[in-house]
Amino acid sequence: MDSLDVKVIRKTLEAEGITSFELARADGAPLPAFSAGSHVDVQIPGGLTRQYSLCNDATEQHRYRIAVLRDPASRGGSVAMHDAVNEGDVIRISAPKNHFPLQHAPRTLLLAGGIGVTPLLCMAQRLAAINADFTLHYCTRSAERTAFRKEIGSSAFADKVSFHFDAGPAEQKLDLPAALAGAAPDHQLYVCGPAGFIDHVVGAAKASGWRSEQIHLEYFGAAPQDTAGDTGFEVKIASTGQSYTVGPEHNIIQVLKDHGIEILTSCEQGVCGTCITRVLEGEPDHRDMYFTDEEKAKNDQFTPCCSRAKSKTLVLDL
Ligand code: FES
Repeated sequence: MDSLDVKVIRKTLEAEGITSFELARADGAPLPAFSAGSHVDVQIPGGLTRQYSLCNDATEQHRYRIAVLRDPASRGGSVAMHDAVNEGDVIRISAPKNHFPLQHAPRTLLLAGGIGVTPLLCMAQRLAAINADFTLHYCTRSAERTAFRKEIGSSAFADKVSFHFDAGPAEQKLDLPAALAGAAPDHQLYVCGPAGFIDHVVGAAKASGWRSEQIHLEYFGAAPQDTAGDTGFEVKIASTGQSYTVGPEHNIIQVLKDHGIEILTSCEQGVCGTCITRVLEGEPDHRDMYFTDEEKAKNDQFTPCCSRAKSKTLVLDL
């Protein structure tokens, strides 16, 4: 099933600027099953599609729950969700997809930055249900901006969660080296939050001896792009031999679309992987957050919705 229509059965203000939406089938039938770390693509009024992690218990099939941070600086998706989607509305979503799956490990460390708690909350529920050894560190600006604080505080796994507020006293702030200390090769680390938070955690984890394979990350939004040095390049379509110029201010998807070549997109931010296209020649300038560093280094595929070219020409398998 590619997409389904779901009804907003509850809309709740969870914290300052954060609203959750509970979604169910209008006919009450069960929803497709999902696993911890999954997200759905949500078609938002106004035409944007955005990915939101499912943050309810993954054994539930009567509802999905997503949480949306109102971000006026974004392209409008989150504001439209807050202002234009209400209880009783029917919205279209994709079936759940999981690019952030939980692996079995003797010990799991979950590090959440702000709204990045959503997939990790689902993981914490799952790990608690199977009696696994885990810790969740949840960092936010303040208690008022901490979604699901009460719910976590009264959960069966409350003793495995530490809250850290930027605005709070020094002694409750996250001591990252201490949290990351003592990693064994089979421990797993999951981190989700803004790009700065993830980069900080990943850097500290590597410095503490965590290997890349043990570190799993998911960004909840696109990283700001530095477009100042962008130059033009050619994109060649392998099947036809036709070349098209992508100017410094243009984007590959748009240029190809103008010439009748459609590439399916969803997030248009390098987050979801929908637009992945094989590269036969040339070196992409990867700007996505979907591929790992190892995958990017192969230069055999890229995300044309946000990526560009380092070489003069890119030959695409289209
Ligand atoms: Fe989502 Fe390109 S459309 S990564």
